[in-house]
Amino acid sequence: MCGIVGYVGNKTACPILLNGLHRLEYRGYDSAGVAIIGADNELKIYKCKGKVDELENFIADKDTEGTVGIAHTRWATHGAPNNINAHPHLSQSGQIAMIHNGIIENFRVLKEALDKEGFDFRSSTDSEVLVNLIEHIRNVNGCPLEDAVRVALKRAVGAYAIAIIEKGNPNRIIAAKQSSPMAIGLGEPGEYYLSSDAASIIEYTKDFVYINDGEMAVLEKGKPLQVFSLDNEPVAFSTARLDLSISQLEKGGYEHFMLKEINEQPKTIIDCTRGRISPETLEITLNGVANNIDRFLNARRIIFVACGTSWHAALIGEHLFEDICRIPVEVEYASEFRYRNPVIFPDDVVIAVSQSGETADTLAAIELARKSGAFVYGINNVIGSSIARATDSGTYIHVGPEIGVASTKAFTGQVTVMTMMALMIAKRKGTVSDEYYREVSAALLKLPELIEETLKLDGEIAEMAKIFTYARNFIYLGRGYNYPTALEGALKLKEISYVHAEGYPAAEMKHGAIALIDAEMPSVAIVTPDSTYEKTLSNVEEVKARGGKIISVMAKGDELVRRISDFTIEVPVTTECLMPIVVSVPLQLLAYHIAVNKGRNVDQPRNLAKSVTVE
Ligand code: F6R
Repeated sequence: MCGIVGYVGNKTACPILLNGLHRLEYRGYDSAGVAIIGADNELKIYKCKGKVDELENFIADKDTEGTVGIAHTRWATHGAPNNINAHPHLSQSGQIAMIHNGIIENFRVLKEALDKEGFDFRSSTDSEVLVNLIEHIRNVNGCPLEDAVRVALKRAVGAYAIAIIEKGNPNRIIAAKQSSPMAIGLGEPGEYYLSSDAASIIEYTKDFVYINDGEMAVLEKGKPLQVFSLDNEPVAFSTARLDLSISQLEKGGYEHFMLKEINEQPKTIIDCTRGRISPETLEITLNGVANNIDRFLNARRIIFVACGTSWHAALIGEHLFEDICRIPVEVEYASEFRYRNPVIFPDDVVIAVSQSGETADTLAAIELARKSGAFVYGINNVIGSSIARATDSGTYIHVGPEIGVASTKAFTGQVTVMTMMALMIAKRKGTVSDEYYREVSAALLKLPELIEETLKLDGEIAEMAKIFTYARNFIYLGRGYNYPTALEGALKLKEISYVHAEGYPAAEMKHGAIALIDAEMPSVAIVTPDSTYEKTLSNVEEVKARGGKIISVMAKGDELVRRISDFTIEVPVTTECLMPIVVSVPLQLLAYHIAVNKGRNVDQPRNLAKSVTVE
């Protein structure tokens, strides 16, 4: 994970770097640091444990003048989060400063070799090894810094997005990447920005160059951008425009990004379906599916690969594609799939689901699938992300930047896209009746209204959250389409409130987990009118009979469910396959309010990062 940012030009670098770091904090917030070269050509490095605010306080009275600089916010992988392990790292001579996002897997071997050459290491990071390797190569070969960087990177195994500045050279940043994201922002001619995420520097430029894996860029003040391969061949590059507004990156009056993003869902569903479902004919058109329809129609299987919340959305995708398209589906944790030597057929379709489009395990699973000749389709949010570029085709969910670490609007956007895909394919395959197609299509268009109505439950849910703030364990129960929703509800609570919660298929309870039930253990039961309604009701009765407290997420006005519930969250009803979208909203709110009551850092929960770019 980690976020990196850089600037070279005529402006004062430090405020730009700090602003970028604040926007990148979702990627990690264990420590932060900045390196700047001033007019005196000296290298100034300031870094400390903690968040960017702490760095800002720390450097408030320091000399931060200079027009070239690099900065880093860390999510610790190698080495504890402390001042010494914070980036930037300096080479032994103090000449070269480097920031790094990624992992150098062979750092131990490289370190041993450098130890023998007399290098001392201050930190326990893999990154310090890399900067010293660069210095060593330069010392031995007497070559320019960029040549030393190239040679060093050829010896490094792993993932990196690095940026380097050098004492005595206040005009230049050298940058390179392999499997970690990097965007180079173009300012005035000869002015450059650099970041792990283009959105973080959108107030300075909307024009970006995305260099590819195995490429290196030289950003030199007043000169054109140069991109090379690690074999020193010049590489042609293109510029992409990112249309994003600053307001999309701000809280817009909400106390937390998560709350803003929960409340945005009526609009994000509109954005996700806009131009894709005709309100007149109810016809669904996704270009990625239309252009590759034969791959889907001839698919032997669909394999979803994803992590975390995206994996939960994929579980709903499994229901949709099996139910509506009659295509066999497997859902895989990308991190397990990639190491399992899985059987993948050339006529399989692999669908990679990811909000960030940068999750390292999902990227690796895509690579594996491509090697097997399968067609790889992406469902992503971040435009131009690594996964979007690595897949054969795909559909963006278009829900806008998701900044709260806990995923909310991306989940509902992913399920929306999967529903549109399934309907489109099913129609061509002839596995869906025209009536059902039109029913679900119309229901998708009506969803924003239903979510708007559901959001009105916020006050009620906040009150309920007060009662359950101090419960130590929760269980979330659901069946069918809503079993994944139960998993997702439990994950939301765990990650932002640090309360233990488990999602469970309601019927499985009696095979073990029911032993946990007592008066102290609230069960959040999803009991909405669907094909498993009666069965779920019986499962909830079983919990109730053992003294469990029941919070039901249920259809508005359902007397039967009310009677067996201690607390109710009454939501509007839509067609069965879309109920997870409606139901997930109050579960997001419940987790949010419990976390706020507990005084947690909702947007940046401990130990987590938004974009998991390490394996
Ligand atoms: C949970 C959450 C994570 C992500 C997971 C995958 O709220 O945000 O579980 O869903 O890290 O990330 P993406 O979707 O970016 O691949």
